[in-house]
Amino acid sequence: MGDTKKTYYITTPIYYPSAKLHIGHTYCTSVADTIARFKRLAGYDVRFLTGSDEHGQKIQRAAEAQGITPLEYTTNIVNGFKALWEKMHISNDDFIRTTDERHEKVVQELFTKAYEKGDIYKAEYEGWYCTPCESFWTEQKLGENHTCPDCGRPVERVKEESYFFKLGKYTEQWLKFIEENPDFIQPESRRNEMIQFVKQGLEDLAVSRTSFDWGIKLPFDPKHVVYVWFDALVNYISALHPFDGDGELYKKFWPADLHLVGKEIVRFHTIIWPMMLMSLELPLPKKVFGHGWMIVDGTKMSKSLGNVIDPIPLIEIYGADSLRYYLLSEITLGNDGNFTLPNFVTKINADLSNDLGNLLNRTIAMIEKYHDGVITKTDDIDALDKEISSLAEQTVADFEAQMEAMELNKALKTVWAFIGRMNKYIDETMPWVLAKSSEDVDVLRLQSVMYHLAESLRIIAVLVSPVIPVGAPKIWEQLGLSGFEQVQLDDVRSWGAINTGTKVVKGEPIYPRFEIPEMVETVTVTEEVEETVDTSNVPPLKENITYDDFEKLDLRVAKVVSCEKVPKSKKLLKFVLDIGLEERTVLSGISQYYEPETMVGKKVIYLANLAPKKMMGIESYGMILSASDWEEHLEVTNIESLPAGSIVK
Ligand code: MSP
Repeated sequence: MGDTKKTYYITTPIYYPSAKLHIGHTYCTSVADTIARFKRLAGYDVRFLTGSDEHGQKIQRAAEAQGITPLEYTTNIVNGFKALWEKMHISNDDFIRTTDERHEKVVQELFTKAYEKGDIYKAEYEGWYCTPCESFWTEQKLGENHTCPDCGRPVERVKEESYFFKLGKYTEQWLKFIEENPDFIQPESRRNEMIQFVKQGLEDLAVSRTSFDWGIKLPFDPKHVVYVWFDALVNYISALHPFDGDGELYKKFWPADLHLVGKEIVRFHTIIWPMMLMSLELPLPKKVFGHGWMIVDGTKMSKSLGNVIDPIPLIEIYGADSLRYYLLSEITLGNDGNFTLPNFVTKINADLSNDLGNLLNRTIAMIEKYHDGVITKTDDIDALDKEISSLAEQTVADFEAQMEAMELNKALKTVWAFIGRMNKYIDETMPWVLAKSSEDVDVLRLQSVMYHLAESLRIIAVLVSPVIPVGAPKIWEQLGLSGFEQVQLDDVRSWGAINTGTKVVKGEPIYPRFEIPEMVETVTVTEEVEETVDTSNVPPLKENITYDDFEKLDLRVAKVVSCEKVPKSKKLLKFVLDIGLEERTVLSGISQYYEPETMVGKKVIYLANLAPKKMMGIESYGMILSASDWEEHLEVTNIESLPAGSIVK
């Protein structure tokens, strides 16, 4: 029976255990979980995979620094991942580690297959490598001063014997595939980017390394380990045990329906991975969706900026549902999303505690008070009631269509519009007035109003369950219903399933209200705090200067009036500063660290009497001071995130 169901295989990226996961990772996994839960509700046989990407030089170095083996190092962190996903109520069916034997076996098998086919050959690699991104780059693609074009950090020169995969060989087949499958890469803007990338010409890809050994060994040349991305991408297949027994899981679920990934790794998933599969003559996944990034208080969240938010205290204080709801409702999938604590608390107070929580509390309290907790179905409905039941059916249909189209925040808006309508329905029908009357017509009317409230909450509970899986079953239970785990979307397509005699069960408010101020300090946890600084990198102190020397500097506080990118310059931002006496134009080479619009209104320290200098045809007066460490992290206003010893210049 079960086998006749449509299947749906969804994956998240497998995360690097190089650091604790932050709300950006939590966002990605929560989106995938919401889709997985929705698909189960819609009747699919779902397989939802997440995991950890544990090999590579970066991990080996981190383990060495702690004096433990790489596997000990990754196991500690991966246990943390699993605990986080449990706390977030992530419903993954499997968790793959690239250190699992099942995975290593499949990688070796597939690598050998491509090698035997002649698509992988041995040669010498000489070029540039970004270890944090585990990416190879050609000289032309590098940023200024030999930096990674993806993350901006310095790349390393690498020269070693390597096996190469003939990526270029699959260019035509790939372009044809993309043309025939216009929905494969989502959103569309990413698709165009990838087509441009491939059309510029692809070099063969180095797919093995010899300069370290923390990786999967090539069976036919064990001094080589498989390049981490070749290793990692295979997880989507190895998790399905393709070569065990008759490969039942693999046959059932491959090709994947959706790889959900962050925008910076779309390239690996839509170019390298499909080309690997083409070489292996295996079917390609049906869709890769590139989501945006979580931005915190206006700046990109990243470990190097020290503005990383730890989801655990947020979950502990506000609950998993709150965080999930905020991430899903605030961000349009594909765009970047902003996280600020006041916004977060305001949003969950308004939507969960007020709109949804109050609708439930008021409904249950009134049914208890007016009808001893018993729901009665009546045919005595009026035009307003009819409007409500039609709207409920329409809400389910719209919600489903929007979820299918991956418009997750729109789908939530649809449900919350219905919740809002039901709160208004209470105000319009004024049950407290009806309850005072003993006229038959009012008694019947009150029954109908209570029924409409309860029945709409039944439908709402099901629709919100993919996003707030903790609260949804509580709504169901308070309505006196059972069997929530088996409920399907089909059960709420039509109105009127609650039977007469159902008895509501009053419970605690499902979403308490939170005060905003007291939470602020508790929650923003930066990972940088936990990191130990390698003091061997701190630059030496300069020679002493006299007080008179210092007196010569005219340092001022200045306010940013405007800020924009200087055309054709990768580094420069053009600022107009209010320095109290006048406005000054200053160029500052910090474009890779700040989005210009986030600077407006900020106050900076400004050196006013530095001789003017012309750059890119613009005269720059004075200098904005910034602080930066020896790893090129730079701050203009938030020095808290930098280690001691950082240089101000
Ligand atoms: N290990 C690779 C993925 C291999 S998949 C075969 C990797 N790992 S990662 O841990 O660096 O990132 C995993 C995912 O987290 C990526 O999709 C990335 O986009 C996402 N995020 C990391 N920081 C993020 C934000 N600030 N916001 C949203 N998602 C972010 O890449």
